[in-house]
Amino acid sequence: MASKEKIRLAVLASGSGTNLQSIIDQCQQGQLDADIALVVSNNPGAEALERAEKADINTLCINHRDFESREKFDHAVVAALQEVKADLVVLAGFMRIISDVFLQAFPQRIINIHPALLPSFPGLHVQQKALDYGAKFSGCTVHFVDGGVDTGPVIAQSVVPVFSDDSEETLSARILKQEHKIYPQVIQWFSEGRITVTDRQVTIDESQKTDSSLTNPPLTTLR
Ligand code: GRF
Repeated sequence: MASKEKIRLAVLASGSGTNLQSIIDQCQQGQLDADIALVVSNNPGAEALERAEKADINTLCINHRDFESREKFDHAVVAALQEVKADLVVLAGFMRIISDVFLQAFPQRIINIHPALLPSFPGLHVQQKALDYGAKFSGCTVHFVDGGVDTGPVIAQSVVPVFSDDSEETLSARILKQEHKIYPQVIQWFSEGRITVTDRQVTIDESQKTDSSLTNPPLTTLR
């Protein structure tokens, strides 16, 4: 049987790169019909670059500080991604806002993961914000990137409980565990051509429905 055509990923990361690692691992285990063509970071010290090099993946550091505008930086990133013929751009802890230059070069082909249940808590330090708010659930969201900050159409979300004795670290770790599952899954759906976007509505062809509900804290007297 002929092997499936693989899509080419470009992963952009500024920090520790644990999401990148989960994508690398799933690719290596043959779970994804995808190859990572390039890892780009704006941060020369990003651990993500080391993770990619260890896995023999091409890396590129494009330091945003070397550019006088966001657009000029984005032009350089876009040129690099076009050069490797990226089919999908995966933002994995990429701490730069994407300009129109970038969006127009990869329409509906840039995805991001955010450690909260959007539209709640967009922006930064959102695990702490969920704790401060007293939310009983938080989670993570994979979404298409549009011109706003964490505003694009939602592709998938995973929910985790928030406990009263959680710290930012314990909640972040619980959320991150789910991030490492849903991000590769969304990439695989993309590679299978199963993701359709109509306005803000994203559907995954042939996905199952579940109506199971979660309550935190769990009910004790009522069922
Ligand atoms: C994750 O929490 C992700 O949701 C957010 O940035 C963090 C990146 O973590 N966008 P890592 O670099 O993948 O470990």
